Amino acid sequence: MNGKEIVQQIRQKMRDHHGLFARSIPLIASENITSNEVREATLCDFSHRYAEGWPGERVYAGCQYIDDVEFICMDLAKEVFKADFADVRPISGVVANLVLYSAFTNPGDISMSISIPSGGHISTGPLHTKKGAFMGGTAGAVRGLNVQYIPFDRRALVVDVEKAEEAIKELKPKLLHFGASVFLFPQPVEKLAPVAKDLGATVTYDAAHVSGLIACGYFQNPLIEGAEAMSFSTHKTMFGPQHGCVVATSDKEEFYDKIKRATFPGMTSNHHLHNVAALAITLAEIKEFGKDYGGQVIKNSQALAKALESEGFTICGKERGYTKSHTLLVDISPLQEKAGLGKDIEEDLEEADIILNRNLLPWDMFEGRNYLNPGGIRMGTSEITRLGMKEGEMKEIANFIRRVVIDREDPKKIAKEVNAFRKNYQQLHYCFSSNEDAYRYIEIY
Ligand SMILES: Cc1ncc(COP(=O)(O)O)c(C=O)c1O
Repeated sequence: MNGKEIVQQIRQKMRDHHGLFARSIPLIASENITSNEVREATLCDFSHRYAEGWPGERVYAGCQYIDDVEFICMDLAKEVFKADFADVRPISGVVANLVLYSAFTNPGDISMSISIPSGGHISTGPLHTKKGAFMGGTAGAVRGLNVQYIPFDRRALVVDVEKAEEAIKELKPKLLHFGASVFLFPQPVEKLAPVAKDLGATVTYDAAHVSGLIACGYFQNPLIEGAEAMSFSTHKTMFGPQHGCVVATSDKEEFYDKIKRATFPGMTSNHHLHNVAALAITLAEIKEFGKDYGGQVIKNSQALAKALESEGFTICGKERGYTKSHTLLVDISPLQEKAGLGKDIEEDLEEADIILNRNLLPWDMFEGRNYLNPGGIRMGTSEITRLGMKEGEMKEIANFIRRVVIDREDPKKIAKEVNAFRKNYQQLHYCFSSNEDAYRYIEIY
């Protein structure tokens, strides 16, 4: 294949991908879809430039408009997160976590976070598991932190506050880092932050999943509850470009300087300026549409949980109302004989054009299952909410899922029905150009 043919092949694959998402039900909890305004920003000339340093103090020329945009972005981030400081340069959620680690810890320090089986993310994980197997989580492997876990009530899916308080007092961590990837319920920042701070810890919160809900006012704001800094990705419940951010509130100016220095020259050189512009637009969209969007995301996740339960599924977190976020977790282990485990079910549903992911349940490891074929599946309602779906549609989605997983109907047959259902949800909502085709492949030549 010559170069031109390769280019055409790649373009065709991208078009096919757009087609796949235009006809499927997208339920991945860590994903969302951006508006045309955000997509336009990601294509602009900012994506070819450098602007090292802080806006207004760059060590590169040609940055005047880039600086203006970055200042607007920082102001908007401070406003929506009710923070005194924002650094919009980290290029992803993992990098935002690394910024916090390098600003507030030294290698060998103890940090505390939620374990991966309990819903924590690899970027907050240790170098080795407790049994000594290589794990390679970013906090341990890259920053060299001695990662200890925040005690977690596995069945209730919440932090065990009493045990966590004891553990903090015993371990005296340098960093207490809240947050998770399977984030159904708020975490006890208000109760535990003072305990950790009194012992000299910095208290931070990884809001990669829930930042959009926090910005819209529908999830705990950790900065108000006593955390000093919050790291996050901007593309999960926040419907922005793939990027990262750190916001903070502290009475010490040097606290902010540490974050700034950790970001640059620590973790970034070029900070993906097109995504900073796209993030500023996303924040403006959140200001305008966040109240309606955030509320509907949570109504939808609770409605989907209830509908799935009526269809015969076991939903985790029932005692607490299934979920208080965009995410729901289904225990599919009771269906193992009939339908297999997480990997099998993920694959069957993908054949039916229903896209979600397998997920480790907090107790899977104790029952002999692992992350490759775990006992759970995770779903999120951010993207389907942006497509205008409401509680009624959650019932239809739950019914499709039952027919594939429990009734063992042919996934290819269900796919045809899913595609017909999706035809009615092609427009993007909660954005300024809402009449546009949400999954249009934008050609610029
Ligand atoms: C809790 C948490 N932190 C960090 C990340 C990483 O974010 P990114 O992919 O933007 O680096 C994720 C991604 O899913 C996450 O769930």
